[in-house]
Amino acid sequence: MHLYAATFLWISCLLPSQVDLLNNGLARTPPMGWLAWERFRCDIDCKDDPDNCISEKLFRTMGDLLVKEGYKDVGYEYVNIDDCWLTHSRNAKNQLEADPTRFPSGIKNLSSYIHNLGLKLGIYEDFGTKTCAGYPGILFQMDTDAQTFADWGVDMLKLDGCNVPTELMPYGYPAMGYYLNQTGRPIVYSCEWPAYQTKEPDYQAIAQSCNLWRNYDDIQDSWDSLKGIIDFYGDDKGNFSMFAGPGAWNDPDMLIIGNYGLSYDQQRVQMAMWAIMASPLLMGNDLRHIAPESKAILQNKNVIAINQDPMGKMGKRVIKNNDIQVWTRPVMPTGSYAFTIVNYGVYGTPAKLNYKLSDMGISGSKSYLITEVFDGSKIGVHTTSDVVTYSVNPTGVFMGKAVPQ
Ligand code: GLA
Repeated sequence: MHLYAATFLWISCLLPSQVDLLNNGLARTPPMGWLAWERFRCDIDCKDDPDNCISEKLFRTMGDLLVKEGYKDVGYEYVNIDDCWLTHSRNAKNQLEADPTRFPSGIKNLSSYIHNLGLKLGIYEDFGTKTCAGYPGILFQMDTDAQTFADWGVDMLKLDGCNVPTELMPYGYPAMGYYLNQTGRPIVYSCEWPAYQTKEPDYQAIAQSCNLWRNYDDIQDSWDSLKGIIDFYGDDKGNFSMFAGPGAWNDPDMLIIGNYGLSYDQQRVQMAMWAIMASPLLMGNDLRHIAPESKAILQNKNVIAINQDPMGKMGKRVIKNNDIQVWTRPVMPTGSYAFTIVNYGVYGTPAKLNYKLSDMGISGSKSYLITEVFDGSKIGVHTTSDVVTYSVNPTGVFMGKAVPQ
């Protein structure tokens, strides 16, 4: 039978007529943690590259460092496995198995280790026949695999969408959410469903089924990749920003801060933009080798507080003018806004940009106290019609907060 027909038949037989919507009470603010893919990819060569291969050692080490280096204290809690953790075939009971040479103690032991650190463990799978890197997928085995993850003590599942017809995703992704719920274990559900759609995704259905969802291409270690992602979210096609809120987040992919591709200012841009977009903060870096200034950006409490704002409203781009764009996001205390002014320009001196708060869509109160978010410095108390000058570095950002007075 053709894969499409077989899958459809399988899903319609197994699935109760009404799939319970996810509603698992998890991820009330965007999840924060570490995810292996961007930095460690599918390095399975533990013989010649033992420190960097996808192995239990790598995840234990990153867990240790989240604690020792202060990341846990500011909210990073997930240690997430990505592709290439599996053996190439299922065991005799048709269950998934971690590669025994690279994960000799198994995932259950790894999750206990991570839990003893006060952290949580995430894992990766794929809705299709195979993962993107060619390991066994969960198609036809969703119930078994959901139970395996629960038995192992997994706390988050990233479900990729390679090697399956995209038309099946509106059935398959909710089905896996249903099976995760059925296990009774709280497991944050991260979907790649919209990222694979060629037509406009049904965000309503996605937001009801997934705690977070990748909308767009994989991030790469470059400023161009970062700009492409920011522009996609700024365009907000289909108004997907409105579906973000406690328990449901648009996911523009990993933080690449601390890697090779971004300057200091560009790293600040990513942190500020991921905060304004209410994005999951999943670091894809090497916590053993990270510049102190990158670590300081990642651990900036003021920026993290904007990201984790309890209202969970995703920011929107309100001005786009050549190299300059402005984004705003409502935050607590009530009536306040966070805003970012991003400069893509490479003209080698800071741009001096004049804006009234009203230009940025900030109104409602007569005057606001404006502060710079990264260092908390006071810019001043201004009415919505005062012109304020902001200095923004080339390929840099100014991040502000306006609180009604
Ligand atoms: C896809 C995903 C990535 C990563 C890889 C792993 O490309 O979008 O985030 O999980 O697969 O193979």
